[in-house]
Amino acid sequence: MQTVQTVEELKSWVREVKNSGQTIGLVPTMGFLHEGHLSLVEKAKLENDKVLMSIFVNPAQFGPNEDFDRYPRDMERDQQLAASAGTDVIFAPSVAEMYPRESQISISVGAQANVLCGAKRPGHFDGVLKVVTKLFHLSEADRAYFGKKDAQQLAIIESLVEDYNFPLVIRRGETVREADGLAKSSRNVYLSEAERREAPHLHRALQLGKNLVLEGKNPLPEMDAYLNKHVSGKIDYIELHDYPTLTKEIEEEAILALAVQFEKARLIDNVIINLKGN
Ligand code: PAF
Repeated sequence: MQTVQTVEELKSWVREVKNSGQTIGLVPTMGFLHEGHLSLVEKAKLENDKVLMSIFVNPAQFGPNEDFDRYPRDMERDQQLAASAGTDVIFAPSVAEMYPRESQISISVGAQANVLCGAKRPGHFDGVLKVVTKLFHLSEADRAYFGKKDAQQLAIIESLVEDYNFPLVIRRGETVREADGLAKSSRNVYLSEAERREAPHLHRALQLGKNLVLEGKNPLPEMDAYLNKHVSGKIDYIELHDYPTLTKEIEEEAILALAVQFEKARLIDNVIINLKGN
């Protein structure tokens, strides 16, 4: 496995792969890899000739008081994990390489960013689209892989691709969980021991809520009471929307999602509920 740090090196690898008629699967990440990322690599491996992973902690998607500086980073460990999952090339640019000048054009997400994390983190998804747009163009990927754990991000990226005819297919990966149900996340390392013991209650609250939705009930008050009883963190939101439109008119699928702010970690999780029962 090779690691490249410059756009020129990446482009020359992409040219070689494309000239030989092979396909590229892109797995965009911010590093500090866990099984969720590796499962995306495995899926990409099955569906493409080559797998490209990007590792870039993207400053454009962090707010001024968020954790950009202390976001966990460990390139050596990431290289080992990425290689063991079958990644062919890692693209790990510096901020200056990725953003050599102040952008003259900004991307602005519409109503899909007005709920859930988008409502709490203004500009976050504009920053995500800024980096994925560049990655899609640079990688000339045939398919790009994103996890359902970041379901709002996934829905917004699908809209970008559809609205602007990006020539690639977005593939969804299942959320990978610890044995006790906690969704794998790079930010789980911020949890204290006591918070780590509480964290599986996020998934349990979602399961409770899912059953209520399937019974035609409003799940939010019971979930709120459950979480207040079982976790010390502050509930940031618990919301129910249509998926993937994220509107209030729920049709076939709904997303029930929550965010809890612990002392150093803000955890998110969700469940997508099929209301047609198939
Ligand atoms: O999901 C993430 O890790 C990031 O938001 C992404 C898609 C790599 C863009 O920086």
